[in-house]
Amino acid sequence: MDKYIGRQELALLKEVIASQKLWKKEGAFVRKFEEEFGKHLGVKHAIAVNSGTSALEACVAAGGIGAGDEVICTAYSFIASSMVVLRANGVPVFADVDPKTLCLDPGAIAGKITARTKAILVVHIYGQPAEMDRIMQLARKHHLLVIEDCCQAYDSYYRGKKVGTIGDIAAFSLQQGKQITSGEGGIVATNNKDLFRKASMFANIGMIWDWERPEAGSHFALGGNYRMGELQGAVALAQLRKIGRFNGKRRRFARIIESELKNAEGIKLAHVYRGAQPNYYFYPLRYDAEKAGLSHAEFIRRCNKQVEGKKIEIHAGTIRINYLEPIYRDIARLKSCPIGCPKYKKKLEYKRGLCPNLEKAVPDGFITIRMHHGRTAEEISAAAGAIKRVLREAKLERER
Ligand SMILES: Cc1ncc(COP(=O)(O)O)c(C=O)c1O
Repeated sequence: MDKYIGRQELALLKEVIASQKLWKKEGAFVRKFEEEFGKHLGVKHAIAVNSGTSALEACVAAGGIGAGDEVICTAYSFIASSMVVLRANGVPVFADVDPKTLCLDPGAIAGKITARTKAILVVHIYGQPAEMDRIMQLARKHHLLVIEDCCQAYDSYYRGKKVGTIGDIAAFSLQQGKQITSGEGGIVATNNKDLFRKASMFANIGMIWDWERPEAGSHFALGGNYRMGELQGAVALAQLRKIGRFNGKRRRFARIIESELKNAEGIKLAHVYRGAQPNYYFYPLRYDAEKAGLSHAEFIRRCNKQVEGKKIEIHAGTIRINYLEPIYRDIARLKSCPIGCPKYKKKLEYKRGLCPNLEKAVPDGFITIRMHHGRTAEEISAAAGAIKRVLREAKLERER
């Protein structure tokens, strides 16, 4: 495997240690990372925090979401994307997905907007940009905040704009598996000064770093300590400086998969919306069991047998439908906030049937290939080759 974390990270880490300044207030690296990330993304404000989940919580807090407020969410994401709403005592209202991409379906969002809706939390899942034009139109019409979860979507574009710059505020993750990493870590990004101040106070126990002197050190809001430390800041900065190389590698991987599998019967390549440019964090192939002649589970089993011992991950998708997780069943039964809250007088159930398109597409309609930049072109080629071989064998079995 390529060493994607190496000399550059070590060099900056040494500088941090030599400086004896391990926290943001005294050090230079977290600030430098924020500055360079802001420039890279093209936003005025970036706040480094200690995880993508913390970044999302800060976005929700900045949006003033609280008891009785509904937020339209997707159920197809790492559960943090909806759990952060519950943590603020808000109510996640799940809209269905477009079965071609598993991103929120703008048509389904429209039907979920009520007088209580305060925000839409969009996830660009697998690095595929959601249909942002239609989502933004709806949001503007109904005066809703748009939070973009870009934890998997560094440098994905939608109609010429980077995702994370289209909505009002965005969250990124620096967890180990992501496009750039500091082990754990996250970033809040926005062009809106008011949202920036609120998010930054939330992440810094009610204080903001760079306020004018008389205000420095005062605590203006409720918050926690979600700050990133200098050691992580140094690693994140070194990683950010390599992001172009990492992205280029994943684009090459996507071309390999597409040229190998474009004519495969039973598999469809990723659906890309007009004007969208995914970053191919994972490659989502659409699977048709009838055409392939194998159940989805059997197909995945055979593919993984083919690549045994190699660093290749062919998944059935690694994400769980959020509202089917035990936490949602339990929380809906509570007599207190968020859902049993006296301010929230509606009865809401989280149960099977809420998002039929999603439930139909997952777990059987997709196969994902992990496209981590630590992989090699040979490994990605082997993954595509394994899929082709399994399809060919299944066809021969059928013809026998
Ligand atoms: C789409 C999405 N949202 C949120 C998160 C949460 O990020 P973190 O693990 O850094 O808290 C992740 C990462 O796992 C993610 O993939």
